[in-house]
Amino acid sequence: MNKKNKTLGEFIIENQAAFQYSSGELSKLINAIRLAAKVVNHEVNKAGLVDILGTAGEMNIQGENQQKLDVLANEKFIQTLKNREIVCGIASEEEDDFISINSNDEKHRNKYVVLIDPLDGSTNIDVNVSVGTIFSVYRRITPVGTPVTLEDFLQPGKNQVAAGYIIYGTSTMLVYTTGHGVNGFTLNPAIGTFYLSHPDMQFPESGKIYSVNEGNYIHFHQGVKDYIKYCQKEEGDRPYTSRYIGSLVSDFHRNMIKGGIYMYPKSSITENGKLRLLYECNPMAFLAEQANGLAIGGRSRILDVKPEELHQRIPFFCGSRKMVEKLQEFLQKYQ
Ligand code: AHG
Ligand code: MN
Ligand code: MN
Ligand code: MN
Repeated sequence: MNKKNKTLGEFIIENQAAFQYSSGELSKLINAIRLAAKVVNHEVNKAGLVDILGTAGEMNIQGENQQKLDVLANEKFIQTLKNREIVCGIASEEEDDFISINSNDEKHRNKYVVLIDPLDGSTNIDVNVSVGTIFSVYRRITPVGTPVTLEDFLQPGKNQVAAGYIIYGTSTMLVYTTGHGVNGFTLNPAIGTFYLSHPDMQFPESGKIYSVNEGNYIHFHQGVKDYIKYCQKEEGDRPYTSRYIGSLVSDFHRNMIKGGIYMYPKSSITENGKLRLLYECNPMAFLAEQANGLAIGGRSRILDVKPEELHQRIPFFCGSRKMVEKLQEFLQKYQ
């Protein structure tokens, strides 16, 4: 079959047969995420027509003003996963604590937990700029059939069995990995089907784009400042181009296709940067490594970090291999 005509549904079935998820549970879980993605896509597309723009009037545990779409996307994802009875626990950027899903019931002996950033790039919603959803899947550590505990969620990123994102952009795409490369699927909105449009996605080895909120430059660590100056220097293939959307999903997606580096460093005003290890950095790091890129948290590999709390933040540098290695040289000078 022409690869481009393959649907996400067909791809999931093929991979279930070929790879590790022979019990079918992970396939069902990816299917549930596919459904939730379509539901959230439908809501996001209506923004501006119905009253879902602006703030919800509440603050989340991160100290951020929740947008109405943050709340809606969170509800839709959680509800879809609950209805499908396919996971034993969910943690979300928008929830104070993790949610345990009735695992005492014989029927609900599921082994996976899902962690989500339901709406990434919230601040871009009101101005019609691309936003996304990020998800991350782990096999639980505690015994199946007992309620999940915090331990099931605080696993290092290298334990992920699947991760991905949905980008609600000029077209809507679902991009994910189960540890066998990264594949991207584009939604045909007329018939509500995702098609394999970007098989085996790979970061170019190097690139010419750097993405960072340069408004915070004054607060950055000297190593990061020096690297930014390096990016701007006229030498060889430099200066690089600066591109920063302010939606991690969109910045990552562009860099993976075109080649580039994304940076959210710590600073003198944010001790650990802004991005969340469990809902943002780990899934993106897993995708990056599966796509021949790199992701570090300052000193070391993101996927090796042992999380200490659910909403933990961490500096994040991610992208084309050679660019991240070059940045590392600058960071090491000041360690
Ligand atoms: P979220 O909307 O899920 O809270 O995430 C926002 C994140 C990320 O998407 C983006 O890259 C970053 O915050 C932008 O932060 P700044 O506005 O500080 O640059
Ligand atoms: Mn947020
Ligand atoms: Mn986010
Ligand atoms: Mn979010």
